[in-house]
Amino acid sequence: MAEKPWVRMVTAQTPTNIAVIKYWGKRDETLILPVNDSISVTLDPAHLCTTTTVAVSPSFDQDRMWLNGKEISLSGGRYQNCLREIRAQACDVEDEEKGIKIAKKDWEKLHVHVASYNNFPTAAGLASSAAGFACLVFALAKLMNAKEDNSELSAIARQGSGSACRSLFGGFVKWIMGKAEDGSDSLAVQLVDEKHWDELVIIIAVVSSRQKETSSTTGMRDSVETSLLLQHRAKEVVPKRVKQMEEAIKNRDFGSFAQLTCADSNQFHAVCLDTCPPIFYMNDTSHRIISCVEKWNRSEETPQVAYTFDAGPNAVLIAHNRKAATQLLQKLLFYFPPSSDADLNSYVIGDKSILKDAG
Ligand code: ADP
Ligand code: DP6
Ligand code: CO
Repeated sequence: MAEKPWVRMVTAQTPTNIAVIKYWGKRDETLILPVNDSISVTLDPAHLCTTTTVAVSPSFDQDRMWLNGKEISLSGGRYQNCLREIRAQACDVEDEEKGIKIAKKDWEKLHVHVASYNNFPTAAGLASSAAGFACLVFALAKLMNAKEDNSELSAIARQGSGSACRSLFGGFVKWIMGKAEDGSDSLAVQLVDEKHWDELVIIIAVVSSRQKETSSTTGMRDSVETSLLLQHRAKEVVPKRVKQMEEAIKNRDFGSFAQLTCADSNQFHAVCLDTCPPIFYMNDTSHRIISCVEKWNRSEETPQVAYTFDAGPNAVLIAHNRKAATQLLQKLLFYFPPSSDADLNSYVIGDKSILKDAG
């Protein structure tokens, strides 16, 4: 009787991250190299995360992937680049318990199946591409026993989606744009871990879970081609802001942190408006949330809450501490009750967090 073919499986879970200094614009579309450094905070995987299972078996005759239960094509360059880069780093695998032995050279012939699930809206401006590609690369690296550290893996995840490189670490993370033409020095580093500033509380107002009309990739391509403000931002504004943001994070200086975070979100959306044709990621509810926070911050001695919006209308609100978070939630529930405002469907409250290896 023929022996049943073996299957080796690995599952990983990766949180999403939200940029406080935004990445918007590429200098190389294929390698995904940005026009400026960016800084993000990694969210709590209990609330917003991707769970990905990767499997390998001699019985698989092609690479296949299912996203949120539906099969998707892996023919796109980004998936191909990640698969190729990880395969190049694959090593011998010996699983004594299951009696599986895979030699380094076997990985060229073996195919993988991938099943991935996001526990939050996909392509709605909550960085599903970040959690998604970071998780894919991390899970494949475990499956193939690749020896790369998280920074080296981040340079591979970057080739799936730029923001993904920052999801391989918890806490505050910087994506260094790098100088090398081959992109080898464009990778993520952890600035501080999730314990450094643990009084921060993050509240996400899900204004809309609908898929956005303009993907981040298309939007930033149009901005690079048409926005003069983007050129000014990348060369003159962000380099200084990144330094100030690093200082603010190191010193847990919430006043500076909030000022820089809000200003950077607003400038990113100004770049979107400066794009031809203009891109509108925020909507009326997003604008009303900004006004509400600005008014409150101005009535206090120092800001209590920072807001930032990615390429979508959903608000990411970072409260100084639990007291500020409680007050913020009271205000949000009063002015934007989820049940009566069709435009706002839920709130997600989380901590900062660190990558969990569920492998
Ligand atoms: P978002 O704001 O959610 O990041 P993007 O337009 O940047 O939106 O990216 C959405 C794309 O990211 C999806 O169309 C899909 O190609 C990819 N993506 C999302 N989730 C995953 C996942 N779990 N695994 C792999 N790719 C994913
Ligand atoms: C507004 O990383 O989704 O969220 O590299 O083309 O996949 P691609 O784009 P993506 O862009 C993220 C843009 C942003 C800001 C940020 O996360 O820094
Ligand atoms: Co994205």
